[in-house]
Amino acid sequence: MTDTHVALVGFMGAGKSTLAWQAAQQTGRGYVDVDSDLEGLIGPIGTYFDEHGEPAFRAVEEVAVTEALLRSAPSIVALGGGAVTSAATRELLAERAITVWLDADLETCWERARATDRPLARDRAEFERLYAERRPLYADVADAVARDVHDIVLAAAGVHVKRGAIHHLGELVPGDGATALVSDPHVAGIHGMDAQLSLGARLAQTHELPLGEEAKTLAALDRLWQELRLDRRGTLVALGGGCTTDATGFAAATYLRGIPWTPVPSSLVAQVDAAIGGKTAIDLPQGKNLVGAFHWPVRTIVDPALLETLPSEQRREGMAEVVKTGLLANEPLWELPDDELVRRCAAFKAAVCLRDPHDRGDRAMLNLGHTFAHALEAAAGYDGVSHGQAVALGLTAALRLSGRDIGQVEEILAPKPVRVDRDKAWAAMQRDKKAVGGELRLVLLGDAGPRLDVAVPAEDVRRALDALIAG
Ligand SMILES: NC(=O)c1ccc[n+]([C@@H]2O[C@H](COP(=O)([O-])OP(=O)(O)OC[C@H]3O[C@@H](n4cnc5c(N)ncnc54)[C@H](O)[C@@H]3O)[C@@H](O)[C@H]2O)c1
Ligand SMILES: [Zn+2]
Repeated sequence: MTDTHVALVGFMGAGKSTLAWQAAQQTGRGYVDVDSDLEGLIGPIGTYFDEHGEPAFRAVEEVAVTEALLRSAPSIVALGGGAVTSAATRELLAERAITVWLDADLETCWERARATDRPLARDRAEFERLYAERRPLYADVADAVARDVHDIVLAAAGVHVKRGAIHHLGELVPGDGATALVSDPHVAGIHGMDAQLSLGARLAQTHELPLGEEAKTLAALDRLWQELRLDRRGTLVALGGGCTTDATGFAAATYLRGIPWTPVPSSLVAQVDAAIGGKTAIDLPQGKNLVGAFHWPVRTIVDPALLETLPSEQRREGMAEVVKTGLLANEPLWELPDDELVRRCAAFKAAVCLRDPHDRGDRAMLNLGHTFAHALEAAAGYDGVSHGQAVALGLTAALRLSGRDIGQVEEILAPKPVRVDRDKAWAAMQRDKKAVGGELRLVLLGDAGPRLDVAVPAEDVRRALDALIAG
């Protein structure tokens, strides 16, 4: 996923160049616009068309597309509207790219296309005929359909967000090999049957991990490793919350030195956070997530309908990460209806993780509020303060230190100061951040977006932390 081209196909005027450029910005990829590269070589496409005819143009176009797709640095490549009429191009797309169909309605395409000198947009009737003729071609080559830049980013990350997706796992899990379905007893009881039915003949085994963090233990992993009967063409399917996806992802990273896996996240935390970005881990008695691997799923299948059975306290856990994401994106994503909220938050995290798959840079922004949160969780002995509560509090501290208003976060997440030992929390915070020269380095929000590694005087940090603690 992190080293494949993303090719944008679709009718002329669908907006491929603009959105490809935006997607390249968001994912940190290179950007290639085949039409404009071609114009650099052969001059205006309209003129070339008129002088040499369409077949000659298709031939040079095919060469340009091939060249773009054979480049090694993964890029977002915008193809001309007719490029997919070439069988050689279609074959290359299947081999070398995640192909995304940018689907736009006829009117939009016509308005945009006729304003330019496009040779095939001179006659409305002909334009309509071509629009209808090309659609099945796009549908056929596409791995995903996109309407906006967020859809493109999700496709680049292999994330498929669709209500009802749980009923189509057999087709959506890549490949045609056997699958093993891993879940927790609770989620298995609610959604397990739907998943089993839709995996159909591809389902070879089912497993249950213990509930909650118990899933992320060596004992649970040991059992899962020993029960697995897949060969290397098999795929592990993780249906559940972040504990199930973290543990199953780690099993997939390690079993037979690594097999493909597909999370089907069922909690809000997992849909907007845990199942996106390729981090997998289990816990040690010494701390959380201390053993793990980067192992990007072959696809992540997000069905927002699964959230309808999520208990409200679990939903609140997820909302803390949603608010964090909205603050980072500088948009009130928490106000969106579920399907859109999940799609936008997942796309935001996917973009950050594609830019920084191994957590060496930008990804640190996802820790907004988390240094405080971890300190509170540690001071509570990981008992009594949930991660979501702690993050809600941590976000208010980060906002205060950023000179921002905390009204909105208080309104949505209603964080309540927790009863923990102040000195313990402070000690944990310093351990986590190794205060250097009386300063701690935190993620804060600036006017132009998140700022990483901001040095904050220790006494300011301590004051912000103290405000989160009751009594
Ligand atoms: N890998 C990452 O990048 C990453 C990111 C964030 C969090 N995480 C990890 O995720 C874990 C927390 O995830 P979580 O909050 O989803 O916990 P979880 O997996 O324990 O799920 C929470 C509870 O919700 C239940 N549940 C899940 N989906 C449900 C549904 N659709 N209907 C009814 N009940 C449902 C589960 O059975 C469980 O009881 C932590 O271990 C954390 O470290 C990992
Ligand atoms: Zn978190």
